[in-house]
Amino acid sequence: MPTFLSSPDMGSSKEIVMSGIRPTGFLHLGNYFGAIRNYVKMQEDYECYFMVADLHSLTTHPDTKELKSHVHRVLAENIACGLDPDKVSLYCQSQVHQTCELYLYLNMLAYKGELEKTATFKEKVRLSPDNVNAGLLTYPVLQAADILLHRATYVPVGKDQEQHLEMARNFAKRFNHRYGEVFPEPVAFNFSNELIKVPSLDGSGKMSKSENQMSTLYLSDDDEIIQKKVMKAWTDSGPASRDSVKPPYIENLFLLMKLVSAGEVHNHYEKAFNDCTIRYGDMKKQLAADMVNFIAPIRERVNEILNNEKYLQSVMETGAEKARKSGEKTMKLVRKAIGLNYY
Ligand code: TRP
Repeated sequence: MPTFLSSPDMGSSKEIVMSGIRPTGFLHLGNYFGAIRNYVKMQEDYECYFMVADLHSLTTHPDTKELKSHVHRVLAENIACGLDPDKVSLYCQSQVHQTCELYLYLNMLAYKGELEKTATFKEKVRLSPDNVNAGLLTYPVLQAADILLHRATYVPVGKDQEQHLEMARNFAKRFNHRYGEVFPEPVAFNFSNELIKVPSLDGSGKMSKSENQMSTLYLSDDDEIIQKKVMKAWTDSGPASRDSVKPPYIENLFLLMKLVSAGEVHNHYEKAFNDCTIRYGDMKKQLAADMVNFIAPIRERVNEILNNEKYLQSVMETGAEKARKSGEKTMKLVRKAIGLNYY
């Protein structure tokens, strides 16, 4: 008798990937190189669930006037960057009710003490002491429900989400220990060596939604703004001697050039820096042109998608359906393991 390595009801034999994006603003170059590009690479080889975390955003943004347009935008931006809704499940958290059910069960396994100790919770309490709601406290539990709902093993996220992921592993372990093995323990996924930090244009830190708008390049920026932002980047009068060490604000320009310009172009300026013939004005003009060439097609595609509400609706419907199917499969195991099967 042959032995079967995987049971026939396991569906796809690919490993499962899950990640979430909060719909709280416009995506920038850092989001592209730090996250979305990895999602796009993963969609070929894994079973992927990418979710817009609209429920999470309610914990900090109770005013929902802009919610719909933000959800549409983040979906359109991800698709324009190369996520294929036919290959992955691209869905909205609130449309998959199984998430909320799992969230409730996991809440019984999460302790007040550990939730209060979470770095993101403490930070949010500090920033808005008038809105310390229970949803904020249990934010990591909801995130764990997102991930465990699909029994995902890989979660492509940055460093700032590591603690949440560790909590998800703890909840999974506790569940398995108490009720029986249902969940794998999810780990962060990075394309190893290349965790790219996209530097901001003012020479300090990385591009971010909350920092100075002029030093962050958004996928929605028009050509003129892109040019203006790049040309305003800080430089100096150039290196004083051959093969100098680049100051950080110059290193940043080279890093950006490496991301969006052709290899020869980058090498040319590298050489010009080393033999002290570099003219930063020229370099920035080149970088600005290459940046426009990189961002403009994405921006145009985003606008096309945003103008097609029918298409967005169908993406959300198909995505949610795939996610509910996967989620319901897990929830059958969960309810049975807990003992909620009465007949
Ligand atoms: N908390 C994540 C963030 O702020 C967003 C998120 C929600 C998420 N659910 C998730 C990330 C599940 C990974 C997996 O960026």
